[in-house]
Amino acid sequence: MNKVTVIGAGNVGATVANVLAHKDFLSEIVILDIKEGTAEGKSLDTWQQAPIDNYSTKTTGVTNDYARTANSDVVVITSGLPRKPGMSRDDLISVNAGIVKSVTENVIAHSPDAIIIVVSNPLDVMCYCAYLAAKKDSRKVFGMAGILDTARYRAFLAEALNVSPKDIQALLLGGHGDTMVPLPRYTTVSGIPVTEMIDAEKLNAIIERTKKGGGEIVNLLGTSAWYAPGAAAAQMVEAIIKDEKRVFPCCVLLNGEYGFKNIYLGVPVKLGKNGIEEIIELKLNADEMVLLNSSASAVKEVMDVLDNMKLF
Ligand code: LAC
Repeated sequence: MNKVTVIGAGNVGATVANVLAHKDFLSEIVILDIKEGTAEGKSLDTWQQAPIDNYSTKTTGVTNDYARTANSDVVVITSGLPRKPGMSRDDLISVNAGIVKSVTENVIAHSPDAIIIVVSNPLDVMCYCAYLAAKKDSRKVFGMAGILDTARYRAFLAEALNVSPKDIQALLLGGHGDTMVPLPRYTTVSGIPVTEMIDAEKLNAIIERTKKGGGEIVNLLGTSAWYAPGAAAAQMVEAIIKDEKRVFPCCVLLNGEYGFKNIYLGVPVKLGKNGIEEIIELKLNADEMVLLNSSASAVKEVMDVLDNMKLF
């Protein structure tokens, strides 16, 4: 009997709920939104898809009724504004920080033991905001970015190499912004180092496209992506509820790992029923460390903006 709540019934939240419903391992999914009818409608639509796609996950939509989210095992927070063309994720902080703070407080009031997955942008700093609001172990408050960013990297590589995306394994560190750090040294095609299959120039172009992968979609659609982000968050929920001990890049609070303290950054972790069960520390080379430092500096600048908002 596992219950998951998704806060926000926009494109990303609705996709998280829909993908989770299809996976058919939860007893209940509650979707909550502030706009009357939106969560109710999307949840009803997902429930009506059940007879077609053969799942039994009960879905419930509510308007701001946090009591209905009580005793959730995992809560996914997708609330906040998405990007418009020309905006960086960081431009969203003035609106989204207040939203993520109040949502987290409401969630924790009804599900004090829940594991919280943050999806709202600017991701790294919104994780920190949720952590401050939740006042709980940081291993239970973390963010989805790395699975999405590596998925983009893997998809671009699969296309360039004309192989299945399933066979590309990859790792990416750092903030969920244009300074993210894809790691060719940890990228393989079914175990074959990617550098043996693609020339450096092509690989670099793919890395640069990956870093701006979210923006590419914002420019095409006028708003941010939802299918891959929603599926990525659902994959994290699955790893937690099924206690799979999967190894994914996730956005977590670092406490000395990689030489950073008190900052949320993307690093490889082990995900299981206790949330972040291990932070995996790699021996980065000097070049990789320079890139990670610069990504951390970019995140710190946005953390300063949060500090100056005096929400906490
Ligand atoms: C993106 C948003 C979800 O990268 O940050 O598409």
